[in-house]
Amino acid sequence: MAASLSKALMHPATKPVVFVLSLLPFAWLFYGALTNNLGANPAEYLIRATGDWTLRFLCITLAVTPLRVVGGLPTLARLRRMLGLFVYFYVVVHLFSYSWFDMGFDVPEIAKDIAKRPFILVGFSAFLLLTPLAATSFNRAVKALGAKRWQALHKLVYAIAGLGLLHFFWMRAGKNNFAEVAVYAAILAVLLGWRVAQFLKKKRKLAAAQPAGSSFSLRS
Ligand code: HEM
Repeated sequence: MAASLSKALMHPATKPVVFVLSLLPFAWLFYGALTNNLGANPAEYLIRATGDWTLRFLCITLAVTPLRVVGGLPTLARLRRMLGLFVYFYVVVHLFSYSWFDMGFDVPEIAKDIAKRPFILVGFSAFLLLTPLAATSFNRAVKALGAKRWQALHKLVYAIAGLGLLHFFWMRAGKNNFAEVAVYAAILAVLLGWRVAQFLKKKRKLAAAQPAGSSFSLRS
């Protein structure tokens, strides 16, 4: 089952299909805006929906590696970069919607708002941290940085997930509405907890593989 799914993921149509599927929420929002179908407050609807899709794509991207390892789907890795770039795409649309509909593209006002409202500052920090990840997601950048530095830089995704969640939590705290925040927190805890468990397992294996007495000591 896993082998045939992994093979299917290698099909030349897989990437274009995932690309189109990832664009569907945007197309749906765009169509809704054009046809005036986004409810009584379309600006708020757009800002919130694009924020939701940013967080969803962040979870989907972070789920690729656990699914690849646990599900025995090595070919899933070929979708990770595209999915990661969709996180950036949706956060840019989110920021653009806020800057346009909430702030009328008034840059000094936007700067003041970021400094004044902590939940916006946290969201903006997540956006700033995402920018170098998006900029270095291409093969050339990986080569230029070297694999080790590239991997270290891309560990920022954990801070981004934490800030994205805090941003959402803070926004909903004003309304005392935490149900959805709790769902995203649980998903991110599982995805990040799995990585911590993998890291500890690897460390234990390395320690066990070291021959006894090989550790360096000043007294030896
Ligand atoms: C990784 C970065 C970000 C993530 C994951 C994110 C996510 C979210 C989420 C999930 C919501 C709530 C949607 C809902 O209520 O259903 C939201 C709302 C919002 N976000 Fe973000 N966001 C990010 C960055 C930003 C940035 C850069 C800004 C602006 C500088 C921003 C401004 C806002 C605003 C104004 C709202 C709506 C608040 C309201 O309607 O009361 N966000 N965001």
